[in-house]
Amino acid sequence: MPSMAGFQARIIAVLGKGGAGKTVFSALLARVILDAGLGPLLLVDADPTGGLAYAVGADMKKTMGEVRERVIRDAANQDIAGEAIAQSIDWLVLESLQEMGDYSLLAMGRTDSRGCFCPVNTLLRVAIEKLAVGFRFVILDAEAGIEQVNRQVVRKVDIPVVITDGSVRGLKAAGLVAQLLDKHELSGSGYLVLNRASKISGEMPENLELIGRIPEDQNVQEYDSDGISLLDLPEKSPALTAVEDMLIGKLRETSAR
Ligand SMILES: Nc1ncnc2c1ncn2[C@@H]1O[C@H](COP(=O)(O)OP(=O)(O)OP(=O)(O)O)[C@@H](O)[C@H]1O
Ligand SMILES: [Mg+2]
Repeated sequence: MPSMAGFQARIIAVLGKGGAGKTVFSALLARVILDAGLGPLLLVDADPTGGLAYAVGADMKKTMGEVRERVIRDAANQDIAGEAIAQSIDWLVLESLQEMGDYSLLAMGRTDSRGCFCPVNTLLRVAIEKLAVGFRFVILDAEAGIEQVNRQVVRKVDIPVVITDGSVRGLKAAGLVAQLLDKHELSGSGYLVLNRASKISGEMPENLELIGRIPEDQNVQEYDSDGISLLDLPEKSPALTAVEDMLIGKLRETSAR
């Protein structure tokens, strides 16, 4: 984490149904932010099986889930409680944070032990709250569906972005996410992005502002399938240009506040 605290990160959560393009969008957005010099940037991979971490060429070696397992083992051995657990959350967050040069990465990972210690989704929320002062932007690539919206992982989110295709089912799922965001009073600030939507067959969700469309992009498809970092996409890749066009103005505006 950059040593100079004092930012209050704008937290962007990327949501939507399975396969909609959340991870691709998150990586493209990361590239746009880095190219524009709008760091320090924290990427959060909240997909337990790993999404964004792989898409930007990192790995899942050091996840919060794994470090949590370690804390639970230690707590069982030493009868740790209360304050010590709180301290170990700080330790856990720093221990799981990976410095990647241009950006930092926090991967949620998965965990098997139940234990009395926070569930990993709660941990993730606490971690983001703690880290927010060290970064200008946080991009959270969420797990598919609505679980993390329900569990309030996104409670502190400033900008929810829902990704969808143009299908009836895709748009229904986006509508459901929008409804849940409403409950957290977040939908008013939410954006909708159409990915690979050649036509719109369903009803557009209310309360989300449609900010743009990402075309099918052969570079994205090839890089992703070959495991090459999407941060290294050629500058003129149509999907990258699309994300830049739809968000660069908004990012500059919000980071200047
Ligand atoms: N605009 C695009 N052009 C080409 N390929 C794309 C595009 N968007 C997504 N893809 C491809 O579609 C697949 C699904 O995208 P992605 O992994 O980003 O979806 P996701 O919403 O993160 O899925 P999951 O819910 O499983 O995490 C990937 O193989 C990705 O490379
Ligand atoms: Mg994904």
